[in-house]
Amino acid sequence: MPRIICVAGARPNYMKVKPVMDALERRGAEVLLVHTGQHYDPAMNDVFFADLGIRPPDRFLGVGSGSHAEQTGRVMTAFEPLLDEVSPDLVVVFGDINSTLACALVTAKAGPLLAHVEAGLRSRDWSMPEEVNRVATDRVSDYLLAPSPDAAENLRAEGYREDQIHLVGNVMIDTLLANLERARASDVLDRFGLTRGGYGLVTLHRPANVDDPGVLAGLLKALGEIAGRCPLVLPVHPRAAGRLAELGVPGGIRLVPPAGYVDFIALQNAASVVLTDSGGVQEETTALGVPCVTLRDNTERPITVEEGTNVLAGRDPARIVSTVNGVLDGPPAPRRPELWDGRASDRIADVLLHGGSARTRPRPTDRPGPVHRPDLIGRPGRTDRTFPL
Ligand code: UD1
Ligand code: UDP
Repeated sequence: MPRIICVAGARPNYMKVKPVMDALERRGAEVLLVHTGQHYDPAMNDVFFADLGIRPPDRFLGVGSGSHAEQTGRVMTAFEPLLDEVSPDLVVVFGDINSTLACALVTAKAGPLLAHVEAGLRSRDWSMPEEVNRVATDRVSDYLLAPSPDAAENLRAEGYREDQIHLVGNVMIDTLLANLERARASDVLDRFGLTRGGYGLVTLHRPANVDDPGVLAGLLKALGEIAGRCPLVLPVHPRAAGRLAELGVPGGIRLVPPAGYVDFIALQNAASVVLTDSGGVQEETTALGVPCVTLRDNTERPITVEEGTNVLAGRDPARIVSTVNGVLDGPPAPRRPELWDGRASDRIADVLLHGGSARTRPRPTDRPGPVHRPDLIGRPGRTDRTFPL
């Protein structure tokens, strides 16, 4: 059975890595969990390992925070010797964070095959660091594991080989469905003095929303108006903590620490509306059938708008207020996209262990290990991609 490294680094990775690790191990694969250390606060990290029952990482790179180049470079520098030592057959990376791209780049040059979970999502907004990470990670991946048909279509339009593209569904929803009963049993509403349907939930962490005090002040103005009709709870991401403290928040908005996974699902599930700039929260609200208003001009997850409960409101305060009022007056009907069914991780494991001619891609041959399969030599590979970039 193959040896597989799964990479996690930050909050939105943990709920994606868990079901994939489990599905691979159930099928007999040897899995090593590598944690880059991009997120490290107990409330951004440890709580998810505890809540989701993820075993302690097999390797911890401890890279911490820094500029994009510093963080990406530190992950690459630490991951390269690890790959050499562990010599896995396959590396699996998740999502669109800096750790994802860093480990993808190292893997692509080192030899093991590379799988990207959440491939093909595109905001087409190059001011988002995540868009760079998405496109570049897909470009060097062998297995492109797409969560939705739009993502698979994006990959086709970019010229990837059909045998690389696997429409597997949304692995985040596997974890959501597996933990929904526990979330329903959470006492977080009592702890915060909230009632079901009696509040709105807010998350803000995109650089475009929280790094510029002028933009953040506009968002807070809108949130203050909304809070006049519907009290708001805002679990504060560390990126936004300083600026929120500097600016102060209008009455009716309650700032709380980042929530653990089960509590946060409970908070989403009982909210009358969720206002967010998070990628994962757009998906979870759709799966839960809870109205979501996204405080961005675009989304890499259009399926949550077209087949879910998400509405894009942009960042203009007046538009945000009128959008939220519209959603509260007439909530969208709950609906869930196909393949967001709790079985995406099984499909991923089946592709990675048993399927897919993406395995035919030749790799550098200057290292020992199981990728040296004579049957792979001379088979179609990276060079037969017709890529228009
Ligand atoms: C990162 C991801 C983003 C993802 C988000 C999820 C990139 C480029 N961005 O953004 O795609 O949506 O995580 O939450 O990879 N900090 C702490 N404690 C921590 C972690 C961070 O205080 O445990 C603070 C530090 O001041 C740090 C800042 O938050 O400089 C930003 O952290 P970073 O991981 O660079 O980016 P995020 O904004 O968290
Ligand atoms: N989340 C959480 N507590 C919070 C905010 C978010 O558990 O206070 C969870 C949320 O349910 C989802 C994931 O974190 O599973 C999304 O991560 P985040 O918004 O940080 O990143 P993004 O998805 O935008 O990359």
